[in-house]
Amino acid sequence: MFRERIRSKDFKQMPPEYQELLSRVLTIQADCEIGGPRIYCERWLLRAPTVEDMYRLARIVSEDLDHFRKINRLLKEIHIDGTYLLQKENSERYLDAFKIGQLPTWSELAVFYFLVARVGKYQMEEFLDSTYLPLVEIAPGIINEEMSHAAYGHTKMRELCSNGKGRVEIQQALERWYPLALDMFGRSESRRSERYLEWGLKLRTNAEARRAYMEDVLPLIAELGLDVPDERTNRKYL
Ligand SMILES: [Fe+2]
Ligand SMILES: [Fe+2]
Repeated sequence: MFRERIRSKDFKQMPPEYQELLSRVLTIQADCEIGGPRIYCERWLLRAPTVEDMYRLARIVSEDLDHFRKINRLLKEIHIDGTYLLQKENSERYLDAFKIGQLPTWSELAVFYFLVARVGKYQMEEFLDSTYLPLVEIAPGIINEEMSHAAYGHTKMRELCSNGKGRVEIQQALERWYPLALDMFGRSESRRSERYLEWGLKLRTNAEARRAYMEDVLPLIAELGLDVPDERTNRKYL
């Protein structure tokens, strides 16, 4: 297994497979950072129920745009410019979770933060001990912010669950988003996932990361008194 530490100046000397995998993972990460805001900003940024929520949304969006900026800086250091990702249509995003239009309900946005920002945290955790040092340097800050986005979603879910109508909406949103969140980890049987590990670009296989995520999120769902969605229903990448 490859364990050397690589800086951007060493990138060109690395074998093509390393260059390809690193370029790919950075591009997908940048695509996700803009993909999130793009599915809810237009509809919700200035229509959140209170000014506190509007302010919080604006903060979350600014942090995810900053994550985009940080990842794109890494891309530019290896001579790829991800700026084009900002203007892509939602339908052309890498991950299915971001291939949709504006989230229809406020409950859905709460669940989106709770589930999908948490996946963002898991994605960045893969880089904490990466062989690519520039990623190791930015990962902890991004992880902290994704945790706060997920925590905000959790708080909103708890509030919404306090009345019957809210609880029904949250449960429906959960049924919709749980499979999409699990699919964000990719296929369990994936050759590429093994190559990422071999090159020290990720710490866990897709299946291991997904399992850790489920163990994290399932008790929180149960604690809110919600039904835990079936892990196989509506899944695309088992
Ligand atoms: Fe982010
Ligand atoms: Fe986020």
